[in-house]
Amino acid sequence: MAERFAVGAFNANNMEMVQAIIETAQEERAPVILQVSQGAIRYAGLDYAVGLVKIAANQVDVPVVLHLDHGTSFEQNVLCLRAGFTSLMFDGSKLPYEENVAITRKVCEIAHIVGIPVEAELGRVLQSTDGVTLEEVEAAMTDPDQAKQFIELTGADSLAVAVGSVHAMKSRQADLDISRIEAIRQQAGVPLVLHGSSGVKHESVLEAIEHGICKVNVATYLNQAFVRGMRDGFDKHPDEVDPRKYLSISRENIKEAVREKVRLFGSNERIDSGGGFKSPPRQYRSVELGHAEE
Ligand code: G3H
Ligand code: ZN
Repeated sequence: MAERFAVGAFNANNMEMVQAIIETAQEERAPVILQVSQGAIRYAGLDYAVGLVKIAANQVDVPVVLHLDHGTSFEQNVLCLRAGFTSLMFDGSKLPYEENVAITRKVCEIAHIVGIPVEAELGRVLQSTDGVTLEEVEAAMTDPDQAKQFIELTGADSLAVAVGSVHAMKSRQADLDISRIEAIRQQAGVPLVLHGSSGVKHESVLEAIEHGICKVNVATYLNQAFVRGMRDGFDKHPDEVDPRKYLSISRENIKEAVREKVRLFGSNERIDSGGGFKSPPRQYRSVELGHAEE
């Protein structure tokens, strides 16, 4: 938050994605958050997810976080805590406010006992697959005053905010409400998380990072890169029966997608050869973009 860059939080569903994300983080000297959704847990199995990330993380010296993305129950958070996740999320955005507060607080209480941070969500980042309107997006936005109270009541370590993005958009069209991000940052005082980044214009992501976004979630953009790799593979090698021919193209595509995002978020070249954060920190990304920096 102080250095105004964001850590990329990349959703992984299989071994190739885990490998690509972690290898790229290492090449870019970037701290990285590898996140697993409940859908990915259903698909791969909790122990596989943890095992894959641990193996990959042990091969690099940049910091790697294993994060639960959109855990919608207390139970899911406990299961992930026990399985070895190093960061949790309780997403109570579909619940009435009081219930969201109560369960977020409960998750924070148990996670903090063992030093694990918890992301919470206030307001609601909608799903593009539900065919949302601009009015609905605006109506679901996070209220800065409520965010202050929410953080005080729950003790959440970071906050997912609804500020104009929508999950699972296939192209970058959305502009974020930057003044709302700034107001939430001032009121809540915790690092803010941008969900649904695949549909947000890059300029808007950069501005959001300047104003308090510290973690940017990327899922759809990676899935698109993965599937494009398979399609290209089928086109190039129509008679091939070895799936590795296709999957390796997908893995390379994911690497390039992660590299692009890590550089956009300014988290590249942050980690020194000993695996610690560079001190003094490298120049802000905003300087590279030509903005004046105090
Ligand atoms: O929690 C995951 C993210 O918010 C991903 O959003 O699929 O639009 O990149 P996205
Ligand atoms: Zn999300």
